[in-house]
Amino acid sequence: MSDQPAQLKRLHIKTYGCQMNVYDSERMADVLRPLGYAMTDEAEAADLVVLNTCHIREKAAEKVYSELGRLKSFREQKLERGEGRSTIVVAGCVAQAEGEQIMLRQPAVDLVVGPQAYHQLPELIARVARTRGERLSADFAPDDKFDALPVERGVDGPAAFLTVQEGCDKFCTFCVVPYTRGAEWSRPVAAVVAEAEQLAAKGVREITLLGQNVNAYDGEDETGGKSTLARLMRRIAAIPGVERIRYTTSHPADMGEDLIEAHGELPQLMPYLHLPVQAGSNKILRAMNRKHTAESYVELIGKIRAARPDIAISGDFIVGFPGETEKDFEDTLALVRAVNYASAFSFRYSRRPGTPAAAMPGQVDKAVGEDRLARLQALLDEQRHAFNAATVGRTLPVLFEKPGRHAGQAVGRSPYLQAVHVNGAAELMGQIAEVEIEDAGNNSLRGALKAKPAEAA
Ligand code: SAH
Ligand code: SF4
Ligand code: F3S
Repeated sequence: MSDQPAQLKRLHIKTYGCQMNVYDSERMADVLRPLGYAMTDEAEAADLVVLNTCHIREKAAEKVYSELGRLKSFREQKLERGEGRSTIVVAGCVAQAEGEQIMLRQPAVDLVVGPQAYHQLPELIARVARTRGERLSADFAPDDKFDALPVERGVDGPAAFLTVQEGCDKFCTFCVVPYTRGAEWSRPVAAVVAEAEQLAAKGVREITLLGQNVNAYDGEDETGGKSTLARLMRRIAAIPGVERIRYTTSHPADMGEDLIEAHGELPQLMPYLHLPVQAGSNKILRAMNRKHTAESYVELIGKIRAARPDIAISGDFIVGFPGETEKDFEDTLALVRAVNYASAFSFRYSRRPGTPAAAMPGQVDKAVGEDRLARLQALLDEQRHAFNAATVGRTLPVLFEKPGRHAGQAVGRSPYLQAVHVNGAAELMGQIAEVEIEDAGNNSLRGALKAKPAEAA
C-alpha cells in the first residue's frame, strides 16, 4: 500500500520440520528485525519470504518445490500491483542438502542458505539486492553462528525453545541429519544461561532445550570443564521465573545416570520424555546402526520410571526399514506394548539419497509399509487415548499459552505436554494454574479452573 512507511519491510517465514527449525526461524527474524523487517502471516504481500525447510523424508523435501511455485506467482502478482520485487530465500536442511538442485529446479530462488549460515542473512540479502538476480548460496560454517546472532531475542508467549546442541554423530543409516546439520556441537554453558535469563526476564516460564541429540550435550562451563545436560538444567532451574524445563530430542545411548536422576530430583523438569527407539527388532536396530537393543531400551525406560514414576514416554518409529519382515514388525508392536507410550510419531521408511540404508537390499514394498504403519498407529493411538483418559479426574498445573476457539477460553499444556482447553481462563495467559481435568478427547483435554492463582493458598 502506498501509505506504508518506505522503510517498513514485510518478512514471511514458513517453517517445516523439527523444533530446531522453529528456533532457527525465530532467530532469522531476530537477525532481520534491525534491518526494518516485521513479520507478516501473508506470503502474498511479503517483501522477503524465507522457506525454512526439512529434508528428513522425501515428502517433506518435495513440499519445498510446490511452495516455491506458489511464491513465484505471488512475486509476479506483487510486481503487477507495483509493490516491488520480493526476495525468495530457501533456508534449512533442504538448502544444505540440495542447494545446487534448488537453484536449477526453481530459478526464482534468490538465495540458498544452510542452517549454520543464516546469521549472514543481512549481508547476503544486501548482495542479492545490489546484484539483482545473481543467486548466492552460503555453505556450511558450523563454528560462529551463535556468536554472530543478535543477543536480543524476540519472545512469543510463555513457552520458548532454546537450542543448546546441534548436529549428530550417530549416523543412523536411514537419516540425513548428520549430513544436513553436521557434527555434534554444544554451546557453552554461559551462553545458554544468558539466553535463558533473557527469556525468563521477558515472561517465559517454560524453556525447552533443543538439540538433534540434546542429551549428548557437553558444553564448556565457566571453569573450562565440560557440563552435562543435567548440570546445565540445574543452572537453568536456578533462574528466577523458570518454572518448567523440557528437552528434546534424546538418544537412548546418551541417557546418562545424572540425567535420569534429575528426573527424580529437579522439580522444574517436566515428567515427559521423548526418547525415539525406531524399531523393536534387534536385527533391524543393528541395520539402523542405533547403538542400542530393544532390551536395553526397555530396561532404560524402567530406570527412568523408577526415578520418576509418572513420566510420560514418547517415541519415534520407522516401519518398513529395508529387510524388515512381518516378524521384525511384530517385535516393534511388542516393544510398544512393553513400554506403553503416552504419545508417539511413526513414519513409513523413506529412502534418502546418500544414506547407507538407501542402498540396502530388501527395500520393503510400499503397500506392506503402509499396512504396518496403520497397525502401529492404531496401537499407539489406543495407548495415547488410555494415557489421556487416565488424567480425567486429576488436578494438573497448566501453563496457559494461547487463546482458545471460544470467548474467554485459553489453551495450555499439562506437565505431560497434553493440550488443555479451559473456559474462563483467558486472563491467565502466561501463568500456571491448577486445572481439574474433566474430559479427554482425541488430541486434547478439557478442564475447569480449581482456583485462580490469586485465590490459591
Ligand atoms: N534425533 C533427531 C531425530 C530427527 S528425525 C531429532 O533431533 O529429532 C525425527 C524422526 O524422523 C526420527 O526419529 C525418525 O523416526 C524419523 N526419520 C528419520 N529419517 C527417516 C527416514 N529416512 N524415513 C522415515 N522416517 C525417518
Ligand atoms: Fe538422525 Fe539418528 Fe542422529 Fe537422530 S540420532 S538425528 S535419527 S542420525
Ligand atoms: Fe528436518 Fe533438518 Fe530438523 S532435516 S527434522 S529440519 S534437523
